This record gives sequence, C-alpha cells and structure tokens, in this order.
Amino acid sequence: MEEREANHVDVESIGEDLRLFEALRTTRAIRRLRSDPVPRELIRKVCEAGCFAPSGGNRQPWRFIAVTEPERRAFVAERYRQAFARYIAPALLASRAPNFPDQKRRNIRAAQYLAEHLHEVPVHLFVAGWKRRGDPQYAALFPAIQNILLACRAVGLGASLTTVHRTFGRELDAWLGLPESIPTCALIPIGWPLGRYGRPPRKPVDESLYWEQYTNRDGTSSDE
Ligand SMILES: Cc1cc2nc3c(=O)[nH]c(=O)nc-3n(C[C@H](O)[C@H](O)[C@H](O)COP(=O)(O)O)c2cc1C
Repeated sequence: MEEREANHVDVESIGEDLRLFEALRTTRAIRRLRSDPVPRELIRKVCEAGCFAPSGGNRQPWRFIAVTEPERRAFVAERYRQAFARYIAPALLASRAPNFPDQKRRNIRAAQYLAEHLHEVPVHLFVAGWKRRGDPQYAALFPAIQNILLACRAVGLGASLTTVHRTFGRELDAWLGLPESIPTCALIPIGWPLGRYGRPPRKPVDESLYWEQYTNRDGTSSDE
C-alpha cells in the first residue's frame, strides 16, 4: 500500500463490514510488514476493540503502549532479537532434520523474519496488565489481545502475538515507564502487510473436540 493511501483511511468505516466468522478463520500471524507509518487513529481503533474484551470482575486491567519513534523501536528490536535467538535455537536445530515438517519450517522462517525486521515495523504495541499477590495475571489480557488481532485483520493491518520480549521483561517495562505492578504481557508488532491474510494451517476441529469426556484417541501424551 502506498504511504499516502495507507494514511488516508476512513477510520470510522474501515473494517466495519468484515463478517465475524470470516475474520476468525483468516486472522493469522502477519510478520512481514511494511515500514510505512500507521495512522494513530487506527491504532486507537484496534485498541478500542481490545477494550471490549471480558475480564475478571470487569477489572479491565489492560494498558496499551504504542511505541512508534524509530530509535525507540530499535531499542525494543535489539532486545527482541537477542531473546528470540535464544528461544528459537532448539527449533532451528530440529529443523535440520530432513523429515521436519515444511509448515513448521515456514513458521520458523516467518518468525525469524520478524525478529530481523522488528525495528522497521512502524508500531510496537505493548499490552500490560496487573499482578495479583505478586504474580502477573497474563491470562487476564489474552481476550483483549485476541480482539486487537481480529481488529487488525478487519482494518487490513498485519499483526502477530509475541511474548519473547519477556526475557527482558523488567528492563523493558521500566523503560516503558511501567511500575513493577503493571508488567507487559505481549508485544504486538503492527503495520501494513506485505503479503495477504489467509486461512492459517489448523487441524480439523474434530481432532480437538470431545463430548462428555476426554479420550486418548491417538495414544500420545500431551506433554511435549
Ligand atoms: C502466547 C503466545 C506467544 C507467542 N509468542 C511469539 C513470539 O514471541 N514470537 C513469534 O514470532 N511468535 C509468537 N507466537 C506465535 C505466533 O504469534 C502465531 O500465533 C503462530 O506462529 C501461528 O501462526 P499462524 O496463525 O500464522 O498459523 C506466540 C503465540 C502465542 C499464542
């Protein structure tokens, strides 16, 4: 998308027509993104979608911090890259096996691409929450995060859910101005997509759906 075009969107109407089930089935990790800026009003719109998420006692614990300045994004990206390199190392090793599934290999490549290009992604949206008795309540934020991912899909923005920045959690949180009681949970890199949205690879629902009781159908343990 041309920069001029990308920044002349009708924020009110954009994304309002997409049907819910189509959005659900075609929201996937979009990690190849353009560096063109994204209008602040559009980021506000997807965060507003996040605010409609459920939360315990309707506490609405989410805080959204959008980092957009290039030198600040570089700071985040440097730490993300380091954390990601450590996280992905075992998978990279495993992916050398000839029988390693192509789909997984593609996923790793896309994740690597994001790590290498994160500084170019125009919006680093952090989602922060709260602690109960000293423990971060990350689960309280995932409905809001998923709403944001769906809203990005609806308005045509590319986005993905990432968490490896937590390796540098306290350092990044303090740098964002967050007190210890409001830790970040996720970093959602957002920008105009280079590619297209599409149906992600998912196993059929009947492999995961049980009635009344779970039965071990394939003889495997769920431990990895
Ligand atoms: C809790 C959680 C944390 C994740 N953290 C990262 C991450 O730090 N970096 C990353 O590249 N992908 C991360 N992912 C995976 C992707 O966001 C994505 O969901 C997955 O690769 C599936 O992609 P697809 O929807 O395109 O099939 C995370 C997913 C979840 C659910």
